[in-house]
Amino acid sequence: MKKSVRAHAAEVINALQSQQSNLDVLIRKHAKILVESDKKLLKSICYGICREWFHLEEIESQLLDKPLKARDQILSSIVRCGIYELGWMGSKEHAVVSEYVDVTVTEGRPWARGLVNAVLRQFIRKKSELKMERHSAQTLWNHPQWLIDIIKINWPEHWEKVLVENNVHPPMTLRVNRRRQSRDDYLARIKALGIEAEKGSAVDSVRLSQPLTLQALEGFEEGVVSIQDESSQWASIILNPQNNERILDACAAPGGKTCHLLEMADSHITALDISEKRLFRIKENLVRLGLRAELIAADASHIESWWDQQYFDAIILDLPCSATGVIRRNPDVRLMRSETSLRSLIGMQTMILDAAWETLNVGGRFLVTTCSILPQENQLQIKKFLDRHTDAQLTSIVGAPGINTEFGIQHLPTHAGGDGFFYSLLFKSEPDHGGVSA
Ligand SMILES: C[S@@+](CC[C@H](N)C(=O)[O-])C[C@H]1O[C@@H](n2cnc3c(N)ncnc32)[C@H](O)[C@@H]1O
Repeated sequence: MKKSVRAHAAEVINALQSQQSNLDVLIRKHAKILVESDKKLLKSICYGICREWFHLEEIESQLLDKPLKARDQILSSIVRCGIYELGWMGSKEHAVVSEYVDVTVTEGRPWARGLVNAVLRQFIRKKSELKMERHSAQTLWNHPQWLIDIIKINWPEHWEKVLVENNVHPPMTLRVNRRRQSRDDYLARIKALGIEAEKGSAVDSVRLSQPLTLQALEGFEEGVVSIQDESSQWASIILNPQNNERILDACAAPGGKTCHLLEMADSHITALDISEKRLFRIKENLVRLGLRAELIAADASHIESWWDQQYFDAIILDLPCSATGVIRRNPDVRLMRSETSLRSLIGMQTMILDAAWETLNVGGRFLVTTCSILPQENQLQIKKFLDRHTDAQLTSIVGAPGINTEFGIQHLPTHAGGDGFFYSLLFKSEPDHGGVSA
């Protein structure tokens, strides 16, 4: 029996519930065999459910007489998909109920046809009140309690706005390849096609009013534009690459910053990433944009496995992090992260920072960035790094949008603008030099 798109949606949600993989990987895997319109539907259902995760969980528990057995968790996913479509997507009631009832059969639980039918019909009857009611902070904000607490403590003046921003659809932002076309000319080109867009805060950025598919994106295939959030674009602007410099991009895939740096200057870039598969995506981007870099698949924290003892003039470390600044783009972050995973990420970041520092020339620039809004991964990480490395000097960053903190600039996600991002720029002095450079 051919699996329907709704069966695929339930399987993706089920795999997310058991934290088997992340949303994008799961969607890619399931979408492979679907037609274009079904791919779009699968993505809308699964992304939407992640955005409403805790609220849907509460509604589901109100509708089920008793919790489902662990081995029947797929039924919870089926019900959740149905509730989301009926309550948030405005799909046709009869078709949705009957299709999700059929999914019980595809998933080897034909005995649950009546259960799924009854729960979804009950939801249709009580939809307005169930959608209005929210009984906890988790369901109100659709974030786990630990994350609400940590954001509230660290951003007492901004936490509500951050949580709201995390739940909205992000803008689609492009980076114009200045080697191929100026931003002004590209804007004129797409405006002539009736596409609404404006300049973003970063020098090469263009914000589209409405997202477009890659196929519909003017100039993408010919390497005139790439998709990159403007906060991410600020990283290369802050590093300010120069011709002939040796630059290390130590956590480089899929290559957004590597490519932007090469569009800005004729530097020699070593793009390193632990994942060979993800490294391939850098290669694809370089080819599309007509750029070249040295690619290495290795663990940045083990320099003996990849470093040739040639010092770098500048390093960019876009560290693996909690991704709490990009929840609006990756709504499953709220499910995949925990306080425990945060601790292990911080440990990994420390190892990468210390190892990469060894490969930097005296006088070299060291830009640390994350797409996190948690000071534990940002300001505190840099403070501890400066305590360990007396030859590291903090350098002020000029012009980038965000909140000036003692150890770098923190950008919080904003509706029209960029994602949540952190930047800290350090400079390597002779081993015994002290003081902060201006
Ligand atoms: C935030 S992403 C980088 C995004 C990239 N800089 C860009 O602009 O497109 C972090 C990357 O770090 C890589 N990574 C994680 N641990 C690593 C390690 N120990 N050594 C090298 N790369 C690592 C991941 O595979 C991931 O591609």
